[in-house]
Amino acid sequence: MFVFHSPKEMQIFANQVRKEGKVIGFVPTMGALHEGHLRLIRKARRESDITVVSVFVNPIQFDDPNDFSRYPRTLDEDRYKLEMEGVQVLFAPSAEDMYPPGFSTFVEVQNLDRYMEGAHRPGHFRGVTTVVLKLFNIVKPHFAVFGLKDAQQYYIVKRMVEDLNLDLEIVPHETVREPDGLAMSSRNRLLSPESRKQATALYRALKLGKEMIFSGERDPWKVKDEIRKFLEREAPLGEVDYVEIASIPDLQPVSEIEGKVLLALAVRFPEARLIDNFILLPDDKLVWNEKIG
Ligand code: PAF
Repeated sequence: MFVFHSPKEMQIFANQVRKEGKVIGFVPTMGALHEGHLRLIRKARRESDITVVSVFVNPIQFDDPNDFSRYPRTLDEDRYKLEMEGVQVLFAPSAEDMYPPGFSTFVEVQNLDRYMEGAHRPGHFRGVTTVVLKLFNIVKPHFAVFGLKDAQQYYIVKRMVEDLNLDLEIVPHETVREPDGLAMSSRNRLLSPESRKQATALYRALKLGKEMIFSGERDPWKVKDEIRKFLEREAPLGEVDYVEIASIPDLQPVSEIEGKVLLALAVRFPEARLIDNFILLPDDKLVWNEKIG
């Protein structure tokens, strides 16, 4: 496996590979790789000649310095896992290389960041879209795989790609879960045993909301209210940041549940803040991000 730290070297390699007519698949990550990441990587491996995985804990997408400093960093383990998966390239730049002195350009997708994660983590998506665009320009992928646990991120990145005429495809991947339903996340490893137990409430709360909607409930306030009460009861260690039902793809809160909607929530445990969501198709009684592979 090639390991590049320098953006320039990564770019030269990507140019060469493209000249040879090879397809580059890309999985951007912040490391602390788990089975969820590995599934995305396997999808990229199946559909590309060269798979590039980036590991970069992007400082400009953290609104909370404590979250940034606590974010797990396990580059040696990550590297080993990527080698085991047969990944051809690991790109692991430093913050100084990505944001040298004088760095002044930021990318912002407006409106789609107004609610949910965008409202609760000011500046987060501006940091995400800026780094993702930089990574696309460095890695030059034909496609990039994004997990749907971060559904708002996926729709925002897709919007950016469309709006800026970027020449690549954004490929979604279903949310990958632990056997008890908890969505896989690098932050799960920070949870205390008691928080970890209560964290299954996120998935169970989504299932409760789904059942209400699939049984015909069309009032978003009733669904959100029931979910909030459920979370407060089942996860007393956590504090509910939000429960939202938003339109797709523009991510605005709905006043009536119809068509494809995003049911999303965030809960702040003492050790880590967790998010989860279902992308629901009520007419087909389908949870889109549980099944697309
Ligand atoms: O989803 C993530 O891990 C990050 O937001 C990403 C896309 C790697 C950008 O830093």
